Amino acid sequence: MKLLDLPLELLLIILCCCDVSSVMSASQTNKILHDLASSHIMWISLVEDLRHRGFVDRLSAADVRAMPTLDLVAVVRRLVLGPAAWSPAQSSAERPSRSASHVKLRPAMSPGHPFSQQDVVVLPRGEHVLLNNSRGLECWRVTDGVLVWRYESDRVQAFAADVQDGGESANLVICIGGAPPNHQGVRIVNLNFSTGVAQPLLQTDFVGGTFYLVDPVTPRIFGDFAAVRLQSQSFVVFDWRSQAYCKVGESASHRIALDFIPGHFIATSHERIEVYSMAALAGRWVLAEGPVDLDETKTVALGRHISPVIADSVRPKAREYPTVVVAVQPSPLVHRTFRVWIFLHPTRPQFPGCRGKGRQDDDEPVHLSCFRLGLGPDRAPAALVGAGESKPAPPLQLHRLKTFRTPREVRCITYAGHTLATTDRDHQWAISRATLTPSGSWESVGLVKLKRRPHIAPVVTTYSGAVAYVARRSLIVQYFE
Ligand SMILES: *[C@@H]1O[C@H](CO)[C@@H](O)[C@H](O)[C@H]1NC(C)=O
Ligand SMILES: *[C@@H]1O[C@H](CO)[C@@H](O)[C@H](O)[C@H]1NC(C)=O
Repeated sequence: MKLLDLPLELLLIILCCCDVSSVMSASQTNKILHDLASSHIMWISLVEDLRHRGFVDRLSAADVRAMPTLDLVAVVRRLVLGPAAWSPAQSSAERPSRSASHVKLRPAMSPGHPFSQQDVVVLPRGEHVLLNNSRGLECWRVTDGVLVWRYESDRVQAFAADVQDGGESANLVICIGGAPPNHQGVRIVNLNFSTGVAQPLLQTDFVGGTFYLVDPVTPRIFGDFAAVRLQSQSFVVFDWRSQAYCKVGESASHRIALDFIPGHFIATSHERIEVYSMAALAGRWVLAEGPVDLDETKTVALGRHISPVIADSVRPKAREYPTVVVAVQPSPLVHRTFRVWIFLHPTRPQFPGCRGKGRQDDDEPVHLSCFRLGLGPDRAPAALVGAGESKPAPPLQLHRLKTFRTPREVRCITYAGHTLATTDRDHQWAISRATLTPSGSWESVGLVKLKRRPHIAPVVTTYSGAVAYVARRSLIVQYFE
C-alpha cells in the first residue's frame, strides 16, 4: 500500500508524529500533503509538541489553540531566530532594549551574600527558577512568585535540572561540597512542582581524603543518568534507576567536558569530540550502596576501554586549553538532532561556577566550535517501512558547522548561537550571536544590554529569551518581545 492511498485522517495522524522539518519536506511533494501540512490543525499539533517538549515557554495549550496559523508559524521561526528584540534591525547596540518585560521575585537574601553566575537558572519552559540562596537551593515559580521548595544546605556547590513529564516535575542533581573526609556527595531527587515535594532518587556520599568536587563541577542530568566532574579530570556517571555509578575519564591529563543525549554521552576535550553509547558502559557499573570511595573506583578510560561511536577533532595540534565547556542544544526543527557548542578557554576564567568578576584578555581569544549531531530516527514509522520489516539502527552523524574565535568572555549559548557576552567597554552583559551562515563569524548582532549589572544566568529559551539574574536583592527574570 502506498502512503497516499491512506485516508486523509490517517495521513494527518502520521504527519502529526513528524517534526517541523519533515512536515515542510512532505508539503513540497504533492498537493494532498501540501494542503495537510499547511493546515491549521497541523501547525497547532507542531507547536503543541514543541511546547510539550519545553521549547516554547510562556504559552499555554489554550494560547496555542487560539492562535491563527500564521502566528503559529511565527512561533517556530522565533525558536530559531530568537525574539525580535535580538535582531539587529530591532535594537541598538547602545541602548538597553525597550521591548523587554520582567518579573521580580523576592526571595529572602542575606545582605552581602555573594551570588555567582551559576547560582540562578531558569528551567526550560520558563515556569520555574532555581536559586542557590544562602540557606539552600530554592525553587521559585515565576508566574506567582511562590517558593515551591527548598533544599536546606549551605554547601550546594553545583546543581542541574532535567524537566520531566511535560513540565510537571524535574529531576535535580545537587552536588554537596565541603572538606574531606565524608563531606562531599551527590543527591538526585525528583521535584514535583505542584506539590513541592522532592522524592529522593539517589544519595551518595564520597569518602576518602580527596577533594573530589572542585569547581567547575559542571553537573549534568538527563533521563536516568547524571554526571559530575571530578578533580582528577574524570567524571562519575550515575544511573539513579539502577542505583549504580561508573567513573569515566581520559588517560591523558587534559580536561574533558561531558553531556548526555538520548542513549549516548558526549565527551569533549580541547582536541576531540567523541560520542559514546551508554550501552558501552554495560558491565562497568558499581552499585552505589553506602559511602563511595572514588579513589578506589576503577576508571573506564575513554578511547581505550570503550570506543566512541563517532568522533571528530575540535582543535587538532593546538595548545592546551585549561577550560573546556560543552553546551548541547536539541533542535526545535528536527527530532533527535542537536547542536553541540564547544568553548575552549585559553585561561582559567571565572567560568563556570567560579565566583568573582572574570576577565578575558582581548588577545586571548575563546575558541568556539559548533557541530551538528544527528541520532537518526529512533525507528522508522511502520507505515513508511512496511509491516514486519525492521531496519538496523541508523548511524550517528557528526558534522562541523563552524569555528569561531571570539575575543570576549561568552557563556550560555542557545541552539541558534545566542550568547551572553561581556561588552568590550564596560564589561556589561549583553546578548550577542555567533552566526552560522557560510560567511558568518563571531558577530555581535542584535546586541541587547541588560538593564542592570546583573549576576547572570543562562539564556534559556530562544522563544521568550528568558534571562534570570540577581540585582538589588531581587531575583529578576527578564523576557524579550
Ligand atoms: C551556592 O552557595 C554556596 C553558599 O553561598 C556557595 O558556597 C556555592 O558555591 C554556591 N553554589 C553555586 C553553584 O554557585
Ligand atoms: C505531582 O503531584 C500531583 C499531586 O499529588 C500528582 O497528581 C501528579 O501526578 C504528580 N506529578 C508527578 C509528575 O509525579
